[in-house]
Amino acid sequence: MSHDLAADLLRHGYHAIPDARRRAGDPPVCPVKLLGDDAVVVSGPASVRRFYDPRLIRRSGAVPPPLATLLFGRGAVHGLDGEEHRHRKGQFLGLLDDAAASTLEDLVRHHLGTAIRERHGETVSVFHLLSEVYARAVLAWAGISVRHPDKVGRRLAGIVDGFGISGPSYATAWAARLWADRWARGLIREARSATTQPTTPVETIATWRDPEGELLPVPVAAVELLNVLRPAVAVAYLGTFAVQTLDDEPALRPMLAEDPARRHAFTQEVRRIFPFVPALAGIARQHGDWDGQIVPRGKRVVLDVPRTNLDPASWSAPYTFSTERFLGREVDEFELVPQGGGDPAEGHRCPVSRRRSR
Ligand code: HEM
Repeated sequence: MSHDLAADLLRHGYHAIPDARRRAGDPPVCPVKLLGDDAVVVSGPASVRRFYDPRLIRRSGAVPPPLATLLFGRGAVHGLDGEEHRHRKGQFLGLLDDAAASTLEDLVRHHLGTAIRERHGETVSVFHLLSEVYARAVLAWAGISVRHPDKVGRRLAGIVDGFGISGPSYATAWAARLWADRWARGLIREARSATTQPTTPVETIATWRDPEGELLPVPVAAVELLNVLRPAVAVAYLGTFAVQTLDDEPALRPMLAEDPARRHAFTQEVRRIFPFVPALAGIARQHGDWDGQIVPRGKRVVLDVPRTNLDPASWSAPYTFSTERFLGREVDEFELVPQGGGDPAEGHRCPVSRRRSR
């Protein structure tokens, strides 16, 4: 039976890439089929460094269109290259600065406290509770008022749910994407008609322009607004893994409560060990040698994110949860890649990935 990685990612989620590697005998650069074309899967810091070199890899067209539209939306920063990317990324980095992070942290703390008080004694789904809390926080920060932030949170979390998960969840993710696009376009139009001087994040995004000085088309500004709201709600996935870990290892709780350095180490280890993004895709700009395998120009290169985070050459006992590994150590920007690698200002690494938690 022939396997296509795109179909396998949808059908088998996080197992798709390890299965493809096993079938190929686990070479460092693993040949696969992706949407009928030849592609390679790579991992590890040396490959990450190449993957984040814009002279070697471009992003436009790299993620198969149906998945790219579902996850990021059409025209999103994720698929831009060169000056257009630098310009758009600068706008994200300007918006998601330290002040924004600190406001969001305060809002999350406030809404989490309220939710815990209100649900005291009830049995709750941690994931649903956290998606609601993150949704309330990010909507308040963005300056968006809605009647049912819990429902908005569920729909935004639902878009991410469709990645690498088959069946009804994929259909639900599409329904959530179509709803979210329509909703966000309305917000952008409203912000454009109401303001001349932006004061809130939604108004700021509504005024973003392209490098030629033209206002972004409404659907693109809407997609970028969702590219802030959606991942902020998706932090609920990592939050749930964090709660699960604290439940499994209660001895960690007092240590984290007392020590900010260990708290930060804990968040790094949660990001490292729990799967979130299974893969990132690029297209080779030039013929090149990737660990002994020649990758011709135009071939898709897929970066295996979980395997890089669990690479035994970088991490001792990689499958053991240990906050110690991050204490008193600077992390190499190409070894730990749950939010991408390299410098966020220079490439596609997530704009919120280098901040220390308080
Ligand atoms: C759950 C925590 C998060 C994870 C695991 C995560 C992961 C990622 C990953 C893997 C990428 C792609 C990197 C690449 O293509 O090279 C990315 C990009 C991005 N993330 Fe995050 N992210 C998270 C939270 C956030 C939050 C909270 C925001 C916004 C408030 C955000 C905004 C973005 C944006 C705008 C990009 C596109 C950057 C670009 O293409 O240049 N992410 N993120």
